[in-house]
Amino acid sequence: MTVLPVPCQAQMPPSAFQPSQPSAQPSAPMQRSVRPSPKRPPLFTRDPRDPDRDCEALKLAALPSAAATARRFAAAQLRKWGLGPLTDDVALVTSELVTNAIVEVGSDTIPGDYAALHDHTPPVITLQLRLTVRRLLCEVWDPSPVPPVPARPHEPDSPAPGDPARADLALEDLAESGRGLGLIASLASRWASYPSPAGGKAVIAWWDLAR
Ligand SMILES: Nc1ncnc2c1ncn2[C@@H]1O[C@H](COP(=O)(O)OP(=O)(O)OP(=O)(O)O)[C@@H](O)[C@H]1O
Ligand SMILES: [Mg+2]
Repeated sequence: MTVLPVPCQAQMPPSAFQPSQPSAQPSAPMQRSVRPSPKRPPLFTRDPRDPDRDCEALKLAALPSAAATARRFAAAQLRKWGLGPLTDDVALVTSELVTNAIVEVGSDTIPGDYAALHDHTPPVITLQLRLTVRRLLCEVWDPSPVPPVPARPHEPDSPAPGDPARADLALEDLAESGRGLGLIASLASRWASYPSPAGGKAVIAWWDLAR
């Protein structure tokens, strides 16, 4: 598998701003008409011991349609990286992380008319897929600082199946929400969340790759 290192927040090389043709006029000292923009803090943190091999990011309006777009983006990226066997798991985890971010900061409906859409510009979330030397990471940033709260994990000393005291756990198992993070935990090697250097927070899931 050949993967070229392409940093996610690539800077344009200074040479990109040089004129391609020499100027007809004798060169006058260049005035900077635009002040350099202050360096923005990154959305995601990096592990300096595990450098990137490749990285692709996608900004998404926090609308319900974003989950399907995120799934397709993940599947295409996994194919590009030759990680086909992980595609279904990564696409599902990506979809769960993006859906959670939308529920937290976005809207569950698309405004019906232009004026409403104009008045309610949805917040933007960022999905980043990163292939490092050791891992594949799926990272979702949203502007809310509130961290995810997993449903109560199943405790090993909880009542056995069939025990009447287990009735509440059985109901919990049937619940139609609160399953996303459990699913992520079962499909990925690990997941975590942390406050982002840029504000908001990142929720990430990763797969340790065989080396
Ligand atoms: N990005 C997020 N920002 C803030 N809170 C979050 C975020 N993701 C998850 N949570 C919190 O963690 C809880 C558990 O998330 P989880 O995905 O397991 O369940 P759910 O989204 O409530 O339901 P389901 O995924 O089964 O439809 C959520 O109800 C929510 O309160
Ligand atoms: Mg969820």
